[in-house]
Amino acid sequence: MVKQRKKRNPIKLFHHMAIDVSDMDKSIDFYRDLLGYKLTERHAASEVEAIPVELAFLRIQENHHDLVLSHTPGKKYRARNEQDNIEGTTLHHHIAWECQDRDGWLEMLDRVKEMGLEIIRGPVVHSPYDPRGDGSWGENESFYVFDPDGHRLEIFCDMASIDEDGTFRSFGGQRIEEAKVIEV
Ligand SMILES: [Fe+2]
Repeated sequence: MVKQRKKRNPIKLFHHMAIDVSDMDKSIDFYRDLLGYKLTERHAASEVEAIPVELAFLRIQENHHDLVLSHTPGKKYRARNEQDNIEGTTLHHHIAWECQDRDGWLEMLDRVKEMGLEIIRGPVVHSPYDPRGDGSWGENESFYVFDPDGHRLEIFCDMASIDEDGTFRSFGGQRIEEAKVIEV
């Protein structure tokens, strides 16, 4: 168990992730088309000596980047498969994006269908408390798709927040008295 810290956490937030892609052009188009990313900068491998990978910096709003795509020239990429979950190097399980609101989330559901992407899970309410829930956690509504390389993407809205006493509060503002965090 991590020791309780009284001082403020110097970390502000989890900011971005750099994901490895097999085809840079294809992935830039995918993230632009699906999630509305804009390309801030794109750089060839070894443009800076210490960085032997091609990088694309993408942004959603005004931050320089919220997502980075990397591609290693000459690497023999293969599609991810179920075996990767049993054996191999560590992988992320999924990457998630929060929508502005539920209408936005529904709009994304339409967009995914228009793009002909397969929804690999959902739409689902992640909740053991909500009668519509699937028994899992977060109180948010979600669905999941794969990107061109099989990175699992979650698109969600309305996650619960945590009150000061550790009680969950639904996005709609209701305290869920039976739901408490492990660490306050
Ligand atoms: Fe998630």
